[in-house]
Amino acid sequence: VNILVTGAQGQLGTYLLNTLLQGRDEWGPLPEVYQHAHVDAVDKDELDITQATALDAWFEMYGPYDLVFNCAAFTNVDGCETNTELAFAINAEGPANLAKACARTNTTLVHVSTDYVFPGNEPGERKETDQANPLSAYGKTKLEGEKAVLVNNPRTHVVRTAWLYGPGGKNFVNTMLALGAAHKEITVVDDQYGNPTSVADLTHEMLRLALTSHYGVWHATCEGVCSWAQFAQAIMDEAGLACRVKPCTSAQWKEMNPASAERPAYSALAHQKFIDTIGYEMRPWRVALMAFMSSQNEQDTK
Ligand SMILES: NC(=O)c1ccc[n+]([C@@H]2O[C@H](COP(=O)([O-])OP(=O)(O)OC[C@H]3O[C@@H](n4cnc5c(N)ncnc54)[C@H](OP(=O)(O)O)[C@@H]3O)[C@@H](O)[C@H]2O)c1
Repeated sequence: VNILVTGAQGQLGTYLLNTLLQGRDEWGPLPEVYQHAHVDAVDKDELDITQATALDAWFEMYGPYDLVFNCAAFTNVDGCETNTELAFAINAEGPANLAKACARTNTTLVHVSTDYVFPGNEPGERKETDQANPLSAYGKTKLEGEKAVLVNNPRTHVVRTAWLYGPGGKNFVNTMLALGAAHKEITVVDDQYGNPTSVADLTHEMLRLALTSHYGVWHATCEGVCSWAQFAQAIMDEAGLACRVKPCTSAQWKEMNPASAERPAYSALAHQKFIDTIGYEMRPWRVALMAFMSSQNEQDTK
């Protein structure tokens, strides 16, 4: 099979590419079709998804692809508030360009989206069919991207994930590890709840889903819910850091960081659709976090 990975230098793209190259993940060998796959992995310097003409030319030259994984995005949630045009171009127009190119060659598109499409104003877990209504510019542009890919290519999987971390990425876990090593106490929001998710688990589930014709929207996060402060405490505990996590409210955070985007209070995602179809193989968030931390420690001691 011929595969394209866009945004391949981001934290998900890098992990997905390495997994495809290794032919296995933490669960074991990848399905047979991936074993002899040809993979083109590109980031914006080589293939800027906002440039439709260049993108079409790329598909002409290197396609047709069987599978496209779109890991490209403008993911700085606060930055999207002041850069809405660029955020819209990358998170909505770029995916539309990709979907149109995929539709011309009967290509399956796996597009990654976010829990931040939900307002999350009531407790509980969100289903794929729940009403989206984003609070932030990031969430709005990502929702437009979802609509665009679904409308423009019938063979599209939209995979919503959340609170994502992986090796080398700019993410909450790595930020907490750095802050925890440098400070005795840090303040973390304690009234926003979600599902911390490892790129390892997301990649595993995405690679399985991509081989099916169950097109549509999917919720792919690790199992279990916590607050950012609880997540921070777990990171400190796993790393053996003595740094105290001082909980604060979203309102207090906003006072300290006036330019920060509004985020949903309850954006945990439900996984029943996976359970009812191809199965749900993502781990409890704490188990995935432990696996991530021990693989990081192995890297450090190599
Ligand atoms: N991170 C999270 O917590 C989180 C939560 C929920 C959902 N998601 C979704 O998960 C997906 C992967 O996120 P991630 O954390 O891996 O993001 P990431 O690390 O920010 O990676 C995104 C990659 O896309 C690249 N890119 C930006 N503009 C591009 C363009 N015009 N054309 C091609 N590539 C471009 C970025 O390059 P530059 O860095 O050079 O701009 C970066 O390498 C995204 O769809 C994101 O919305 C993430």
